[in-house]
Amino acid sequence: MIDRKYIIANWKMYPITVNEVRDFLSFFTDVKCPQGLDAIICPPFPYLSLFDQSNCFKLGGQNCSDKDKGAFTGEVSAFMLSQLRAQFVLLGHSERRMHYHEANDTIKRKVVLAQSCGLTPVLCVGEPIEVYQEKKSFAYIQQQLSETLSSEIDLTKIIVAYEPIWAIGSGLTPTKEEIKAFAKAFKDEYDLPILYGGSVNAEVASMLAAIENLNGLLIGWASTQPDEFKKIIFNFSGNN
Ligand code: 13P
Repeated sequence: MIDRKYIIANWKMYPITVNEVRDFLSFFTDVKCPQGLDAIICPPFPYLSLFDQSNCFKLGGQNCSDKDKGAFTGEVSAFMLSQLRAQFVLLGHSERRMHYHEANDTIKRKVVLAQSCGLTPVLCVGEPIEVYQEKKSFAYIQQQLSETLSSEIDLTKIIVAYEPIWAIGSGLTPTKEEIKAFAKAFKDEYDLPILYGGSVNAEVASMLAAIENLNGLLIGWASTQPDEFKKIIFNFSGNN
């Protein structure tokens, strides 16, 4: 798993209409994903079923419940996602932590449930701007990971996505050198795939393509723009 590359689209709640999703999919009908790379779309839940086999995308959820079933209005279980062909699920995104008060122990339960349903969790971690300014980003991420990665979790089936909170949707990114140093420090300590996310576009994807310890990208807004997303996939894989 660690040699693969992952380009993951987090569509958040951006695509408003079913037709927008259909247009996106028809743009990609004849596009073949580069070898050794998984291009994964995480659409809003109701749009998962619009994906058929006419493109090279794999599917993921943007979240799942920390309960397996029952009277939990508004929740979507990991098992339900797996029924709609999802193979991945984003967990612990900073927007979930911030707006829905998700704490590490809840996220840990979600990771365990997701794995029990055959999904690969993409565990999102990232520091606020003050922590970055104090140059304590890595220690902050170590803490998030130590509170989440319990012994019940299968470490051969999990991906970590590093998304500095201040880089999300801001047009700001850490420098290439900072991301390179982060990925190296991460790999010295954890034997897990590591992705970068936060204001990724086609240009940033080219810049990050050569970082040897980086296994992929997690993309928000730019992943809803078909032409830009295609460039991101091919720029990162070096097949442009
Ligand atoms: P942007 O790419 O829009 O900055 O969002 C990043 C993100 O939150 C992906 O999960």
